[in-house]
Amino acid sequence: MLPARLWSTLLVSVVAALTTSALPAEKRGVLYPEEAVAIELLIRQAGNQTAATSSRLTTTVASSSSTNSGSGTSTRSASSTSTNSNSSTSTKSTSSTSSPNPSSSGVLRTSAQASGGGLPAPPSGSRLTQHTINGKPGTTATVPIFANKNYIGSGSNGASSAWIGLHGRLKNGNQLFSDLYNVVGDQGVAVVPNFYGPSDVQTVQNAQNQGKPNPIWLQPDRNVIWNDDWRYGADAVAGGTSRPLNGESVSSLEILDSLIKNLSNKSRYPNMARITVVGHSAGAALVDIYSHFGPNAPSGIKIRYVEANTPTSYMVDSRRPVGPIDLAKCPNYNNWPYGPGGAKPRYINNAMSSWSFQRTCSRDVVRLSGTKDTYQADSGGDQSCMSWAQGGPDRTNRGQAAWVIDNLRANTKRTDLRYYASYQNITTYQGGVPVQEVPTFRKTFALVYGVAHVAGQMFASDYGRQALLKTTPISYTQTEPAPY
Ligand SMILES: *[C@@H]1O[C@H](CO)[C@@H](O)[C@H](O)[C@H]1NC(C)=O
Ligand SMILES: *[C@@H]1O[C@H](CO)[C@@H](O)[C@H](O)[C@H]1NC(C)=O
Ligand SMILES: *[C@@H]1O[C@H](CO)[C@@H](O)[C@H](O)[C@H]1NC(C)=O
Ligand SMILES: *[C@@H]1O[C@H](CO)[C@@H](O)[C@H](O)[C@H]1NC(C)=O
Ligand SMILES: *[C@@H]1O[C@H](CO)[C@@H](O)[C@H](O)[C@H]1NC(C)=O
Repeated sequence: MLPARLWSTLLVSVVAALTTSALPAEKRGVLYPEEAVAIELLIRQAGNQTAATSSRLTTTVASSSSTNSGSGTSTRSASSTSTNSNSSTSTKSTSSTSSPNPSSSGVLRTSAQASGGGLPAPPSGSRLTQHTINGKPGTTATVPIFANKNYIGSGSNGASSAWIGLHGRLKNGNQLFSDLYNVVGDQGVAVVPNFYGPSDVQTVQNAQNQGKPNPIWLQPDRNVIWNDDWRYGADAVAGGTSRPLNGESVSSLEILDSLIKNLSNKSRYPNMARITVVGHSAGAALVDIYSHFGPNAPSGIKIRYVEANTPTSYMVDSRRPVGPIDLAKCPNYNNWPYGPGGAKPRYINNAMSSWSFQRTCSRDVVRLSGTKDTYQADSGGDQSCMSWAQGGPDRTNRGQAAWVIDNLRANTKRTDLRYYASYQNITTYQGGVPVQEVPTFRKTFALVYGVAHVAGQMFASDYGRQALLKTTPISYTQTEPAPY
């Protein structure tokens, strides 16, 4: 018998795949939450009233178009439903990516205290820790993180390395912790924050309604929640029901800033020298964005950015492979988070002026792409035309195309570029994209042969281990056409 959690994960994947592929590409685009403030208010009011009346309250949350690229939303909505075997109509109503109209919103049931006791055991090797957000004194809301034994408030003399791991769209930080811990163990500090959202509040509420233990590590009374655009650096939509944001804006990228600040505090970690920010899938997309827009490393600390199987990349200009998508029919293809156009999250707007192609190329970025990370093997995630414009339906090809495009722009003249998917289609002149040579190009890319969209296998592969453990630069040269 599979444990219930696995069943629900399976169900989630299936529902996510179905929901996503049923949507026209335009409907799966990125939109930003105008309802964010309203959601926070509703949740706070819900907390207020629940506290006052000790009765549960139903609040309406326009979760639909406030969240972005389809599958993430539907995934979590589906997840809430799958955990309570309630009718699929509630899936539909919450998973309102399918609804073009924000006012035809789903229903979020919430209460001030949805955690009580009974959180699941954290993954082996970890403790569940509540992270207060440095630099956001207005809120006492916290982010749940899984941390190994070396992450202690007082710090650690021994640790010289740290890893910050980022989960994908299933928001299963517990699994990501296990995948990371499997490779790095207790050699340093390993922390994995979990970004939860309104649909997870509902998951907790559903369990509570049924007298079941909390199936996830979200405690809605204290934790910050984001819409699915956490993966692109957007701000949280609410604090905890009893620990509101109090006007603080909290970008998912500020959680990374805050953890790095914590780990690079020499009075806590006097020997800390290297911090690796590593993500898989949607988590890798966030790492990619962080490699462009995150601040420079604190003094005395080296940061490496590891992106495994990112669904999309931030493309610094409008160059795309010719073929997969008619760009004229995909007007948002170069808009955030696919490119610099359009409306961007607060964090990105503030960071844009420090961005430069030169800076981004000088960073220690390791991109890994599983050769079997194809649409056929896993059709979940972002399948918008903006995503496909980056190299077609297969994530591995999009990853390869992004690598080729970076190299062509920087004019690195690598001779192995011709072996990567879409190379011929990218070299076709398109839109007057400039060449911009840079003094230092430290980005690396490696194909991980035979691996699909599986974080654990990516991290445990030869190049995954190198990316996580090797302290000197990683080099990789493709010597044959990429397998497909
Ligand atoms: C919560 O309740 C307090 C006291 O009744 C009230 O002053 C406050 O405005 C309420 N907050 C919200 C968000 O409803
Ligand atoms: C199913 O969901 C509805 C609406 O959220 C709720 O009223 C009902 O109690 C739920 N049933 C079960 C068995 O959880
Ligand atoms: C991280 O920073 C917070 C806030 O300053 C602090 O309370 C906490 O102890 C720190 N944790 C670690 C492991 O340094
Ligand atoms: C570093 O940690 C110490 C000890 O916990 C604390 O007093 C100090 O404020 C921290 N420094 C920064 C820059 O956060
Ligand atoms: C490359 O472009 C041609 C048309 O110019 C198209 O037929 C082909 O499918 C494209 N290949 C890829 C891998 O996108």
